[in-house]
Amino acid sequence: MTKNVVVVESDPTSHYYSHNAARLADEYDRSGDGLLLLIVKICPDKSARILDYGCGTGRDLARLNKKGYTNLMGYDPSSEMIVAGRAKYPQIENYLHHELAHIAAASFDLVICSAVLQHIEAGKLSAFLKNLTSYLHPGASSHLLLSYPLQWPGYEKEPRRVVLHSPAEVRLALHQLGLSELSFSTSRDSLSRAGREWGCMVCGYK
Ligand SMILES: C[S@@+](CC[C@H](N)C(=O)[O-])C[C@H]1O[C@@H](n2cnc3c(N)ncnc32)[C@H](O)[C@@H]1O
Repeated sequence: MTKNVVVVESDPTSHYYSHNAARLADEYDRSGDGLLLLIVKICPDKSARILDYGCGTGRDLARLNKKGYTNLMGYDPSSEMIVAGRAKYPQIENYLHHELAHIAAASFDLVICSAVLQHIEAGKLSAFLKNLTSYLHPGASSHLLLSYPLQWPGYEKEPRRVVLHSPAEVRLALHQLGLSELSFSTSRDSLSRAGREWGCMVCGYK
């Protein structure tokens, strides 16, 4: 007898991104350029090796590409987000991957992780950051840029996991990995969503 097999996506976060990828590609494209200005400031070398970890549809990489950056790579665990990104930004389609096998450890001058930390459970934050920093070149000129929400009214009701990590928790975990904070700034939501506030931390091996 043949049994019916029902595939259940148990993780609400992966479910959210895989089922909303095309809509999010357009929505994220409307965000402001604040992060890009900071990236250009901390990493003016256009040949620098840059990884966007949790790149979504690759908006920031597309903007960096437009500014002349040539050595870019994006990873996102959602294959649907990567497919939507390749369709929206065909000029960077070869940079976008949903498999980590494409990404060499300890080889990037800048690792960006924007709007991803909120999806990491509190008990897994240190392990996540350890993995993230494993992609960073161990030189003094390498940087890690983390942008994550500090305030998000109604986050408990989101259909995806949202955890608000405090800057102190993030700072401590990074310190344990040998990274120092070089700057920290806060900003309003780049998509003007009411009440959301973001923190942006730049760290390095100094
Ligand atoms: C809010 S979107 C941000 C996308 C992009 N970085 C941006 O700023 O537009 C969050 C992204 O994080 C990805 N994500 C969720 N959990 C992740 C994890 N454990 N590791 C890496 N990326 C993750 C999702 O697939 C999604 O594309």
